[in-house]
Amino acid sequence: MVDFAAIRNEFPILDQEIHGHPLVYLDSAATSQKPQRVIEAESEFYRTINAGVHRGAHELAARSTTAFEDARAKVAKLVGANAEEGEEEIVVTAGATAGLNLLATAFGNASLGRGGEAARRFALKPGDEIVVSKAEHHSVLLPFQELAARTGATFKWLDLTDDGRVRTDNLDEVITERTRIVAVTHVGNVTGAITDIAPIIKRTHEMGGIFVLDACQSVPHLKVDFHALDVDFAAWSAHKMYGPTGVGFLYGKREMLEALPPASFGGSMVELAWMDQPAQYMLPPARFEAGTQPVAQVVAAGVAAEWMMAIGMDRLEEHERMLTDELLKMGDIDGIRIIGPRENVKRIGTVAFDVEGVHPHDVGQFIDAQGIAIRVGHHCAQPVHRHFGLYASNRASCGVYNSIDDIDALLEALAKVRPFFEV
Ligand SMILES: Cc1ncc(COP(=O)(O)O)c(C=O)c1O
Repeated sequence: MVDFAAIRNEFPILDQEIHGHPLVYLDSAATSQKPQRVIEAESEFYRTINAGVHRGAHELAARSTTAFEDARAKVAKLVGANAEEGEEEIVVTAGATAGLNLLATAFGNASLGRGGEAARRFALKPGDEIVVSKAEHHSVLLPFQELAARTGATFKWLDLTDDGRVRTDNLDEVITERTRIVAVTHVGNVTGAITDIAPIIKRTHEMGGIFVLDACQSVPHLKVDFHALDVDFAAWSAHKMYGPTGVGFLYGKREMLEALPPASFGGSMVELAWMDQPAQYMLPPARFEAGTQPVAQVVAAGVAAEWMMAIGMDRLEEHERMLTDELLKMGDIDGIRIIGPRENVKRIGTVAFDVEGVHPHDVGQFIDAQGIAIRVGHHCAQPVHRHFGLYASNRASCGVYNSIDDIDALLEALAKVRPFFEV
């Protein structure tokens, strides 16, 4: 039995009032709150072992390197990736956006002939195809759209069903023998819908393509195993999984990472550098980690990963499924339309909605006045909103610290919105 009330008490930020009401935080899809142990891990690192990693022969440098690599191993374990030295499959990035841009830039570099023969598998040319879905966050949409523009590849996408799920009924039409890269979200950040990625991955691989997963909204909420899923690459952010801001991770199958050319250049990623010859780059993950690492943040992200595994991703999933059941009751309130699946099937506790006749910002402000934090706007996913005939929406999203009382406070406030605005 997990004591979720005790878990909530680990989050100091939740113990406060906003506008005279106890804070109800329902914006975890934007960023999660941090348990005390994660906050502590970061300051403890600075208090005791702060030093650069993989450089310097002194004891502190050795300790910080060990802490950094231990954290990488914990994160790897959370997602079913390899962590043994020489087999690492987790690259430290500045976040999901940085990881996705790293990939798109590296594929672009391969298209210019960088990385030699090994990198040819990533190279794109006119006539090749890149496929995304209409559910994508702009941090998938834009890097891959730019990559298409730079290489002359054709940019295509998988459409959505009426309730906003990525369509998989026409994969044979969209993913063809010309498709080189398919990049799709695991969970829609607007709809909360879990994408049926298995057939998309299968089709991509049958066509000889590379599959990239946006795991931003899945790793914090679902048990994921990238080996079992057979994804080639996956990117996500630490700050949505109870870890610090400014850091994220890119998973790559080891053989893929070894073949991929670097995307940014500088210290700590090069074996040999000369004035008059091309440099010889290090093996992954160092090849993709140019510059000084956000060591304290990575160490704290490792603590977050370990803490999630200790709760148990199954139990965390179960708790959030229970919250989602309650959250979806908003669909019964007059004038509220849920943007995404209305049933609690293959979805997470991220629910976007439209209140008929009231602008999302007015809804957000009204809800905020009751001490409840939700997101308003297009959530960096404009094509999804257009699919629903909207420009913006409201979004409530759960984390492990939420309770049924939180959801009920939201439902109660939502029921008052249209009467308040006299709609
Ligand atoms: C599905 C999805 N992908 C990518 C991102 C980008 O993450 P970050 O802003 O942490 O780089 C987000 C963040 O909102 C997201 O929800």
